[in-house]
Amino acid sequence: MKLLHLDSSILGDSSVSRVMSEAVVEQLRRTSGPLEITYRDLASDPLPHVTLPRLATGDAGVVLDQFLSADIIVIGAPMYNFGIPTQLKAWFDHVLISGKTFRYGENGPEGLASQKKVIVALSRGNIYSGDSPAAASEHAEHHIRTLLGFIGIADPIFVIAEGVAFGPEEREAAMAKAMGQISELRPLPLAA
Ligand SMILES: Cc1cc2nc3c(=O)[nH]c(=O)nc-3n(C[C@H](O)[C@H](O)[C@H](O)COP(=O)(O)O)c2cc1C
Repeated sequence: MKLLHLDSSILGDSSVSRVMSEAVVEQLRRTSGPLEITYRDLASDPLPHVTLPRLATGDAGVVLDQFLSADIIVIGAPMYNFGIPTQLKAWFDHVLISGKTFRYGENGPEGLASQKKVIVALSRGNIYSGDSPAAASEHAEHHIRTLLGFIGIADPIFVIAEGVAFGPEEREAAMAKAMGQISELRPLPLAA
């Protein structure tokens, strides 16, 4: 089974989403049997903005092929300025490719990557869940759900640590809660 592990935090060792995404991969390694893991750090090894010439390069093809060949994708995703980091957006721009991961037909768009499983480890400084007054400003989880849904991945698993900027205790509590959820992850049912 092939697993693609991505991180996109710019905060290095202080990153919350990096700790979480690594824990997700470890949990899957423990519970899912042998995994062939490909890792990409989109912050230290960033992809360029997509242009038409860029999409024609072999390197862009490698990024797409890494996604296409993966059964499971684990994404470490911080919220920056209410959305996803530009580095992660660049990765999605390399992966949402007409004819490869989606196509338009008589019935509109159709996702072509529906057999993949995706787990997103998302970290947010503020609280956006429930009836939080900030809920309407949440454009990270929503954006990722839209991007994945467009290519046919309708059921991504989100593990979220939020309120991490409120203070050290709140950060610890948010991380402990997320780690508890991660420890309950079970092998993902993959299509035959
Ligand atoms: C450049 C930057 C922008 C941020 N913007 C937001 C934001 O708009 N909303 C928010 O709730 N938290 C924001 N934060 C806080 C991060 O979401 C929080 O630190 C989170 O843990 C980031 O994930 P990471 O630790 O994996 O980098 C921002 C942090 C940074 C460094």
